[in-house]
Amino acid sequence: MDFKLSNKLKKLPPYLFVEIDKAKKKAAEEGRDIIDLGVGDPEGRDIIDLGVGDPDIPTPRFIIDALSKATHDPKTHRYSLDQGLPEFREAAAKWFKKRFGVDLDPENEVYPLIGSKEGIAHIPLAFVNPGDIVLVPDPSYPPYRSGTIFAGGEVLSMPLTENHKFLPDLKAINHHLLHKVKMMFINYPNNPTSAICDKKFFKDVIDFATKHNIIICHDAAYSEVSFDGLRMPSIFEVEGAKDVAIEFHSLSKTFNMTGWRIGYACGNSRIIEALAKVKANIDSGIREETF
Ligand SMILES: Cc1ncc(COP(=O)(O)O)c(C=O)c1O
Repeated sequence: MDFKLSNKLKKLPPYLFVEIDKAKKKAAEEGRDIIDLGVGDPEGRDIIDLGVGDPDIPTPRFIIDALSKATHDPKTHRYSLDQGLPEFREAAAKWFKKRFGVDLDPENEVYPLIGSKEGIAHIPLAFVNPGDIVLVPDPSYPPYRSGTIFAGGEVLSMPLTENHKFLPDLKAINHHLLHKVKMMFINYPNNPTSAICDKKFFKDVIDFATKHNIIICHDAAYSEVSFDGLRMPSIFEVEGAKDVAIEFHSLSKTFNMTGWRIGYACGNSRIIEALAKVKANIDSGIREETF
């Protein structure tokens, strides 16, 4: 049997974090200490893990307790088709209001995800046709690129450089190609540069996207991971965002839940509706509980 890979799969580079993990395991087999920050190995050859962002502290107790209780409730043993239980969407909208001061309609502006990665990788399938362009920061979290390739789209890189504070330079994007651009990904706080952005940057992106009819996908997975009192804004704190944007949120990093992931997309109801249509054909929802 000739198991020929699809052309789309052949176009994908090896998944970065899997490759980093392999390299880490190999180095550990060679006897080097991992995440030891230089104290274990007298020759200073310890490995500092800069791979996948995986919190190494446990999930808070109140979540573990609520989840253990929920597993005994037969209600949670059944499919949760489509947008899932209202309780989770209402809780997400309530948190959003408290945290960002932004109103979201839990009925059609919040949608649960099996981790934000899943929504990020699926969103291009909703809007991108073969030949359409997606703007992707470089470097960036790999699913922006792979999701685009799975949808048959072309990636146009937006370099993140130190002289531009690791923000994409919108003026540097090739103007001749803008009519083909369907979507753009941005991500602040940023992985891997750790850069942050302000509302002025969001405003510039919204104006640019509105002018050129581009959907903004803002990946806010690290919105709660900041230091020195900094509070990252949501893109929806800026006027006009709901007309053009969707934002991805994750409980993985906020609540140390990478082993039992859950996330949600929120924002423009028509973008959410299209993502929901893709997901209805791929997964069958998550049975979310609220705490
Ligand atoms: C930038 C970024 N976005 C999204 C995710 C996905 O998180 P999850 O699917 O666990 O919600 C990650 C995970 O490492 C990430 O680094």
